[in-house]
Amino acid sequence: MNTLEKKTLVMENPSLVFKSDIPSGSVAWQSPSNIALVKYWGKKDIQIPCNPSVSFTLSTSTTETRLEFEPNTEGRVSIEFYLDKVRNEKFETKIVSFLDSIVPIFPFLNQLKFKAYSSNTFPHSAGIASSASGMSALALCLCAIEKQYFNTLAIENEFYQKASYIARLGSGSACRSLYGGIVSWGEIAGVTNTSNEYGTCLNDVVHPDFLNFKDSILIVDAAQKKVSSRVGHGLMNTNPFSMERFKQANTNIAALLKAMKENDMETFMSITESEALTLHAMMMTSMPYFLLMKPNTITLIEKIWDYRQQTGNPVCFTLDAGPNIHLLYPQRIENEVSKFIKADLTNFLHDSCWLEDCVGNGPKIV
Ligand code: PMV
Repeated sequence: MNTLEKKTLVMENPSLVFKSDIPSGSVAWQSPSNIALVKYWGKKDIQIPCNPSVSFTLSTSTTETRLEFEPNTEGRVSIEFYLDKVRNEKFETKIVSFLDSIVPIFPFLNQLKFKAYSSNTFPHSAGIASSASGMSALALCLCAIEKQYFNTLAIENEFYQKASYIARLGSGSACRSLYGGIVSWGEIAGVTNTSNEYGTCLNDVVHPDFLNFKDSILIVDAAQKKVSSRVGHGLMNTNPFSMERFKQANTNIAALLKAMKENDMETFMSITESEALTLHAMMMTSMPYFLLMKPNTITLIEKIWDYRQQTGNPVCFTLDAGPNIHLLYPQRIENEVSKFIKADLTNFLHDSCWLEDCVGNGPKIV
């Protein structure tokens, strides 16, 4: 048996079944999205990353999920999923198969009939992926039910670690949304408590200025992306550059954490931008190849570089798996950067739209 199988088995817990009196009730959590600095792109086994990643947890881009439950006589997973009060069968199908896959971990899932009510603080049209905030909120709700009815997970660390593990099974990068500040996922040489199975909060090993960083999310295009992350990860199995990329991510994460510890802004900016461009280079060099940047993504990147050169202000960008730009900078220059966005960037944005976000404190019970 390999280590992964052993660990998954440890999470399996046949005792988490209601012996009598199946309860009715509800739990609700709000959980944030996150933006990776060193990117996870490529996975193996059951949602195990091919390289470690590290992200900023966001503050205002969140999902709130209320999970209502009552006794279920069907003997199999049953959930109705509502997004902004409207039943959403596309998400519902995905969530049913996710819940089915984790019945060995939470056997009580078959004994309850669920209704999930979810809403995002960011507009659907903003093109921001809701899987990290959505999956982490759902994982927290499930762990909250376990904690309430089975007297387990009383220790805070255990509660969040299990929620992170469950969120990872739902959507890899979601496991980093369980903690505020700077969070890693994947084993990092020399950094204790890092794991391929769940996220780890790294706030203690970075300079405090990074805990107040700002993220202005510049909306270039709000359309749904044409290639899903799942497909993108899969294409890394045959990408001729993947092994080099996985090695590079390990080198980058060590150098980035060192820069963040020493508040070395130049190195922070260059690794962050290089990671964003490498992620997209991996897309372009996959077969079939694809391109998620738009012409205005490039225009904005050039404007950001010009601004940085002219002002010396430490602003840099990163990209998710899409065309929108995350403009990252320290809080102390927020007024200047806001003027820059209004004066020079809005013409290149979809509906002149951008979202102000910053590094946040992690999930909250509602
Ligand atoms: O968690 P997924 O499967 O949606 O993949 C996320 C991949 C990136 O957002 C592009 C990078 C990352 O580390 O978040």
